[in-house]
Amino acid sequence: MIVLRRLDHVALRTPDVRGASARWAQQFGLAVRAQDGERALLACDDEPYALELLAGAAAGLDHVAWELDVGCSLEMAREHLEGFGAEVEGQEEALVTADADGNWIQIVPYREPSSMRPPHARAPSAAPPGHPRKLGHVNFLTGSVAEQVRFYSQALGMRMTDWLGEDEGAWLRIGSDHHVMALVGKDNVHLHHLAFDVVDMGQMRMALDHLGRHGRWLGWGPVRHGVGGNIASYVRIVEEECFVELYCDMEQLPADHVPRRWPDDRFSSNTWGPLPPRSYFRFDAAAIESERDSLEMLGMPLPPAPVSETVS
Ligand SMILES: [Fe+2]
Repeated sequence: MIVLRRLDHVALRTPDVRGASARWAQQFGLAVRAQDGERALLACDDEPYALELLAGAAAGLDHVAWELDVGCSLEMAREHLEGFGAEVEGQEEALVTADADGNWIQIVPYREPSSMRPPHARAPSAAPPGHPRKLGHVNFLTGSVAEQVRFYSQALGMRMTDWLGEDEGAWLRIGSDHHVMALVGKDNVHLHHLAFDVVDMGQMRMALDHLGRHGRWLGWGPVRHGVGGNIASYVRIVEEECFVELYCDMEQLPADHVPRRWPDDRFSSNTWGPLPPRSYFRFDAAAIESERDSLEMLGMPLPPAPVSETVS
C-alpha cells in the first residue's frame, strides 16, 4: 500500500547554491531555512521546506519529493513500489526511485505539521510578507503521457482527475485540489513548472509587480485554466531551466469525482482566450531569446528545437 499526503519539495541543481538561494528568496519571497555551499533549503511558510537547491554543474531538476500520509510507513511504500516493478534505493530517511521518464523521485515519511492552523493563518512565521502559501503541484512535459499516468497512479497511488484530448495531457490528484501532478504530451522530457499557491489575485498582482522589478517576465498569463480552474501566471526561470507558476483559486473536487475528458482546444487551456507562445514548451536558448523579445507575437515564428531537445 502507498498513500501520499502532499507534494513535499522540488529539488533543483545549480552551479551557485548561495547565489540561487538569495535570488529565490528575494524574488519569490521564500524563507531560507538552511544553507551552505552545497545545499540550501527554502520554505513558503512554516513547512520544513518546499525548494531544495543542490550544487551541480548542470542546472535543472534533481528530484521531486512526496510525503507519505500518516499510517503509511516507508517500508510499506517500498513494498508497494517494488511490487509495481520500480527500482527503489534508500530506506531510513527517504526512498529514491524514478518515474517512467527517469525523473528522480524521493518519498519522505509523514511528519506532524507544526501547527493545526491553515498555512495562511500560521504564526509566528519567518516568511516575508507576500510569500506564497504552499508548493502546490508540479508539471512535466513527457513523450509518453500514458506510461507516466500508469506510474503516478499505480506506483504512487495518485488518483486521475482529468484528461486532455486522447492523451495529450493528464492531471492527477492526492486530496481535494484538482491536481498535484500534471503531464503534458510533447516531444521533450522536461520539468515544465513548479507551482506556488498565492492565495488570491491581489497577492499574485503584488508578486508579479515585484518579479517585474527584478527583470522577470511571464511566458504566459495571467490565464484562467479550463482544466483545473486555477488563475495562473508562468514566470520564466532561465537559470534553473523551468517555469514557476503562481496560481490561485484552483478547482476543489468532491471525493466521488469522476475523471473528465476535455477537448484539446484553447478554452480548455485558457477560458480567457490566448494560448501560450510555442516558446512556453521549450527551454533551449532560441526559445528563451524569442520569448524574451516576444518575437512570436511580432510575427517571427520560433525556429525548430535543437535535436538534443527532442525525444527520438
Ligand atoms: Fe500548473
